[in-house]
Amino acid sequence: MKTTVRILAILALIYLIPTAYLNYTEPVEHWDWDEIDLNDIPFPENFIWGVASAAHQVEGGHTSNNWADWENTSFPDGSPHIARGEKCGIACDHWNRYPEDIKLMQELGVKSYRFSVSWSKIMPQQGVIDTAALLHYVDVCDSLLMAGIQPMVTLHHFAHPMWWEEKGAFEKEENIQDFVDFSEVVFNALKGRVTYWCTLNEPAVFVIAAYFDGNFPPGKQDPKLAAEVLKNMYLAHVKVYEKLKTLPGGDRAHIGIVKNMHQIDPMNDWNLFDRLLSRTVNQGFNGSFISTFTKGKYKFSFPTLVDLETDVPNAPYSLDFVGLNYYSHNAMDFSFNLDEALKTRMYPDETPTDMDYTMYPEGFYRAIKEISVLNKPIIITENGVADADDDMRGEFIKKYLYAVSKAIEDGYDVRGYHYWSLMDNFEWNLGYDERFGLYEVDFKTQKRTLREGSKEYQRIVKAN
Ligand code: FCB
Repeated sequence: MKTTVRILAILALIYLIPTAYLNYTEPVEHWDWDEIDLNDIPFPENFIWGVASAAHQVEGGHTSNNWADWENTSFPDGSPHIARGEKCGIACDHWNRYPEDIKLMQELGVKSYRFSVSWSKIMPQQGVIDTAALLHYVDVCDSLLMAGIQPMVTLHHFAHPMWWEEKGAFEKEENIQDFVDFSEVVFNALKGRVTYWCTLNEPAVFVIAAYFDGNFPPGKQDPKLAAEVLKNMYLAHVKVYEKLKTLPGGDRAHIGIVKNMHQIDPMNDWNLFDRLLSRTVNQGFNGSFISTFTKGKYKFSFPTLVDLETDVPNAPYSLDFVGLNYYSHNAMDFSFNLDEALKTRMYPDETPTDMDYTMYPEGFYRAIKEISVLNKPIIITENGVADADDDMRGEFIKKYLYAVSKAIEDGYDVRGYHYWSLMDNFEWNLGYDERFGLYEVDFKTQKRTLREGSKEYQRIVKAN
């Protein structure tokens, strides 16, 4: 009998230890939506309503960055790097059509536009500044301000010049200085016009895609290098923050980094292996960010593949706010077949979107709670849905905004929200089929049309 009790106790302990360590994301939860009134979603006064985009995805005319190179080359088996062999081309021609696009923002009623500046256009070669390109962004900012919309600038959103890619980009710590120099140039040109600055967009997403899965340029599959690149990106953020703060106007700038808190959850909560696996993946994806920016301790490890632990000393003092991107979560479902075990999956009882994840508004609330451990004001820098048929966008908007509203009501310091995206655009390696736009874009004619579902956003923005 005693032995049985002991064995049971040991088994319970084995089960509980990892559970107790599952501390980077909140437990999975689901709400009873029948009990929730989605017609009444309150927001505080002065809440910032916005939309978001990124240079490579909307501007067009990128001929010499890492993505231009990627779309012109293929995987070793000959298959194209971009779905269906598509090319980014002129994208939404936003480079030329921004005055028209600013009118679309006004039609929505938003007061903030998050966009990124193109490093490869501003610095086509190392040390060479294209003044006309820089002035283009000055004009974009002025036009936005004239329209009553504040510009929010991202300095690096997945794209950088080919000359920098060839030097090894974020793979080498010594290359960080180039990014700091670029940031200084942009800051000096735009500072009087821009209050909110995002240094880097979603470093962990970029690193997983570019150095783990190999779907983003440079298409490497090297976990050790991935860990190094992620550390360098966090370090780059700190260095840019510190540099900009020393420049005239730096003290007035609000500088932050953008984090996607996509949770990796256990498929079956009771399953020890699912829990262990999801915890491990979560640690690399979300935990490394949290510990870097709360304690200055960077840790990225995956048994047998990689184990990197190092300090990023000033990281906890390098944020005036944190940008939160949120879309969904995925599940880990353990299998003894290792290839299968590392695949992320959708929960079968949740509604799928056009991406490989579901609609999961409860996760937005969790993400806000999770990132609030940084103790910084939170600005939602991206949230939206790929829904080509436009049959879930309206519901998505109401439910996700309900989650934000509830988080604010519960005391979390969320200051603003940017919908991804203003209009359909080039969705990286997935090309043009993923339709995230509030406005549908006909890529043959460049005509923009407000989708039915998007009117929910317009309604909520106008009501608040
Ligand atoms: C985010 C990216 C953004 C866009 C959306 C759908 O991860 O930051 O550029 O691709 O996903």
